[in-house]
Amino acid sequence: MKLGIVSLEKDDVVLSLMKACEEKGVDYRLIDPRHITIDIHERIVKYYKTNLLNMDCFFIRNIGWEWHRSDVLKYLANFVPTINKPEVIDICGNKLLTTIYLDKFNFPQPKTLITENENDALLFIEEVGDVVVKPIFGHGGEGIHKIKEDMPIASKVSLLRNLKKVNKVLYIQEYINSDRDIRAFFIDNKIYCMYRYGKSWKHNVSQGAEVEPCKAYEKMKKLVLDIKEKFGLFYGGVDLIEKGNKLLVLEVNATPSWIAISKAHEVNLASILLDNIIKQI
Ligand SMILES: Nc1ncnc2c1ncn2[C@@H]1O[C@H](COP(=O)(O)OP(=O)(O)OP(=O)(O)O)[C@@H](O)[C@H]1O
Ligand SMILES: [Mg+2]
Repeated sequence: MKLGIVSLEKDDVVLSLMKACEEKGVDYRLIDPRHITIDIHERIVKYYKTNLLNMDCFFIRNIGWEWHRSDVLKYLANFVPTINKPEVIDICGNKLLTTIYLDKFNFPQPKTLITENENDALLFIEEVGDVVVKPIFGHGGEGIHKIKEDMPIASKVSLLRNLKKVNKVLYIQEYINSDRDIRAFFIDNKIYCMYRYGKSWKHNVSQGAEVEPCKAYEKMKKLVLDIKEKFGLFYGGVDLIEKGNKLLVLEVNATPSWIAISKAHEVNLASILLDNIIKQI
């Protein structure tokens, strides 16, 4: 098995996968997406002198925000399996597309409004109460703002105007009041969950949340595995939040980190993922 690990940087996820490859004797190559060249006429995809079409599988970690890199990988994926598929990574990296995709299959999510019209945004806040406004391409909780229903109208308008300027479109979601959220990480049909208790209302690990392993109960398992199937994910992470006894989907991650969840469950998820790649590819 020849595995290509596509990433702009050697972060902890990449390092743990490299280590797992070394331990299992898997031949791997680290691939900087900026140096992949496609020759359409010759039907060659090369990385310096290596023909990437001779490899068995690509693991995509981090290709940055340049759109064409995903398209280059889509071409590569016509010939060699990639984990996850670039089309799915595109959907999950885009909160607007994710919401549309979740809705297509009736997955439960917080009430969400997508608009460039500030009046419609104000009416939505009147209807649902406190809201959060998110950038379509944000990550790690960055750029997400809460707007409280009881703020003076002038402050709400000014906040909405500024956020529209920055984000181009307003992606507004009903605020779900909870002291934690849930990350459900899955590989194949196995799910590893953790509660995340944030220092603020944002429960991202990158914002300093404390984590606690938990067990996926039946309803959660079914929801997560349905999402896995409908999105076509080999592995992934689903962020959930509890509203009463309902579970709502906040996000689907197609390139999630497994570092915090590996520690919480004391398992080597890089090794488990690699075993699954070897078995299934
Ligand atoms: N509708 C909401 N109500 C309450 N809290 C929310 C809501 N949406 C997001 N949050 C909180 O903010 C955090 C970050 O939001 P979200 O996961 O949507 O974006 P992100 O973390 O920036 O994206 P990514 O997970 O791709 O890095 C969530 O983990 C959750 O704790
Ligand atoms: Mg998130």
